[in-house]
Amino acid sequence: MRHYEKHKGILLAGGRGTRLYPLTAITSKQLVAIYNKPMIYYSLTTLMLAGIREVLVISTPEDLPRFEALLGTGEQWGMSLEYAVQDQPRGIAEALVIGADFSGEDPSMLMLGDNLFYGRFDFLRLAMEGHGDHATVFAYQVGNPSEYGVVEFGADGHAVSLEEKPVAPRSRWAVPGIYLYPPGVGERVKAQQPSARGELEITDLNRAFLNEGRLKVQPLGRGIAWFDTGTPRSLLEASNFIEAVEQRQGLIIGSPEEVAYRMGFINLAGFNHTVSRLPGSSYREYLERVPDEIDSLSGFST
Ligand code: DAU
Repeated sequence: MRHYEKHKGILLAGGRGTRLYPLTAITSKQLVAIYNKPMIYYSLTTLMLAGIREVLVISTPEDLPRFEALLGTGEQWGMSLEYAVQDQPRGIAEALVIGADFSGEDPSMLMLGDNLFYGRFDFLRLAMEGHGDHATVFAYQVGNPSEYGVVEFGADGHAVSLEEKPVAPRSRWAVPGIYLYPPGVGERVKAQQPSARGELEITDLNRAFLNEGRLKVQPLGRGIAWFDTGTPRSLLEASNFIEAVEQRQGLIIGSPEEVAYRMGFINLAGFNHTVSRLPGSSYREYLERVPDEIDSLSGFST
C-alpha cells in the first residue's frame, strides 16, 4: 500500500458562529481572541508543527478578506497560503470539495479553525507517515461527549461505531476537529447525501470509511490538551489555559513566526526580516529573543 508524507492543509474557518453572538456579530469566530492571539493562529500553527507548508483557508465571503489581511501569502513564514470561499455553511465535509483542486493528487489534513491543541505533535507526524489509502481520525476522552462526534471502540481496540452528537453516547471518546484523508476524498463527498439538517456531515464521511474498514482511529493520551472554542465558556477556558502556560514558561504558544523558524521554514535572516515588520509590542519583543534562546538551549529537546 502506498504511504503518504506530503499532505496539504485545509483550514476551515467559516460558519455563522451564532453560539458566540454578539462577539461574532461583525467578525468571524476564528478571528476572536484566545488570550492574546486570533483563534486561527492556534490551528494554523498546529498544521505547521505537523510539517505542512501549503494551506488552503476557507471562510465565508464576508470574512475571507479579513483572513487574507491577517495571514497574507504565507511567504513571511516560508509557507504558501491560498484562500477559498464557502458561500453557505453546508457542512464541514464540504471543505474537502472546495479544496479538491488544491489537494490534487496529495492527501489532505483538514482542521477546524476553532479547535486548539497543545502538547507534543508527534501524533500528527506519525499519523501522516503511516497514512495510506485510509482516513485517520483521533479520539480524545471528554466529560461531555454528547457535544461531539463520538467513537466507540470494540474489545480489540478497533472502532466499531461513530455518531454525531449522540443523546446517549456509547463512550466518552470524542473525535477532535482534525482529520487525514487520502487523495480524491472530495469526489467522494460530492456523492454524499446531506443530513437531515442539510449539511455534508464529517461524521457521515468518516463512518463511510469505517464501514469499508478504511478508518484508523488514533486515541490521544492525557499529554495532549484539546479545546474547541465554540461557546463563551470554552473560549474562556482555552484563554485561561494559554495564559497559564505562557505565563509559567515565559514562552508563547501558537506564534506562526516562531513556529516557522523552529520548523526551519524560514532561516534566521528570514525570521529577522519578518519580525522587523511587526509593530512594537510584547509579542515582537518576545520574538526578538527567540533565536538567542534557541542557541542557548541547543542540545536540549524543547
Ligand atoms: O470540534 C470537534 C467537533 O466539530 C467534532 O467532534 C464533530 O464531529 C464535528 O461535527 C464538529 O462539531 P461542531 O458542533 O463543532 O460543528 P460546527 O457545526 O460548530 O462546526 C465546526 C466549525 O466549522 C465551526 O467553527 C464553523 C466551521 N464550519 C462549520 C460548518 C458546518 C464551517 O466553516 N462551515 C460549515 O459549513
